[in-house]
Amino acid sequence: MYSEEFDKIVHYRRSNRSFDPEIEVKDEIIEKSIKRAILAPNSSNMQLWEFYWIKSPEELARLTPLCLSQSAAKTAKHMVVFVTRKDLWRSRAKWNYEIIKKTIKGKPSKLQKRGLAYYKKLIPLVYMNDPLYILSSIRKSISFFGGIRKPFYRLGGKSEQRIVVHKSCALAAQNFMLSISAEGFHSCPMEGFDKRRVKKMLKLPYGAEINMIVSVGKGTEKGIWGPRYRVPYEEVVFKR
Ligand SMILES: Cc1cc2nc3c(=O)[nH]c(=O)nc-3n(C[C@H](O)[C@H](O)[C@H](O)COP(=O)(O)O)c2cc1C
Repeated sequence: MYSEEFDKIVHYRRSNRSFDPEIEVKDEIIEKSIKRAILAPNSSNMQLWEFYWIKSPEELARLTPLCLSQSAAKTAKHMVVFVTRKDLWRSRAKWNYEIIKKTIKGKPSKLQKRGLAYYKKLIPLVYMNDPLYILSSIRKSISFFGGIRKPFYRLGGKSEQRIVVHKSCALAAQNFMLSISAEGFHSCPMEGFDKRRVKKMLKLPYGAEINMIVSVGKGTEKGIWGPRYRVPYEEVVFKR
């Protein structure tokens, strides 16, 4: 349906590391793109993410050295810090639970009952932790025994939980970057930054983690460091 347009957007998106100082990016474009980012698929619709939109010259100047003064940061007109908030799992599970509850008029359907149980019982089983890692061991044992005879969801510990929230957050970042391209502007995702200092600057709590920082502007030719190379299709795609 939109194949050609989508193709153009995907090809237009390049990591641009030098933005035109003369061309501003209107706030509406960033706002629209963050709204599109929020529509990204995310694990269990838990939305364990936050988006810190850095736009004032003063704040951009504070963030730039924390991004190791990369040119993509130095010349950016806006930067968006994509943050994971695994620590908010309880409130997000409750939020989802309440949304389902509100849809129930009279006797709950099978699907509604399943939804309520999912956020009340399964989500805590996936996200809850304790200092002695007892729950992680229980989760791993459940998966091990449950998975002996049939396929079973492999529950994990803290590292598994971090992977889950980072996956979803990165999908939001990709929606954001494609949106910026669709609006005729350019972006650069960055993982080259001092995560401790960025967290401090944004006053983020202990449980928050920075997924990536995306800088935005009108890209220049200088900002493209070369042709786009990818490992050949045949080497990375396995058909069965
Ligand atoms: C998670 C992530 C982190 C990245 N970090 C940086 C970075 O710190 N600095 C930078 O210049 N480019 C960074 N990049 C951009 C990649 O180098 C770039 O996407 C890759 O070379 C492919 O080029 P393309 O985006 O133009 O297709 C990052 C990309 C991703 C996805």
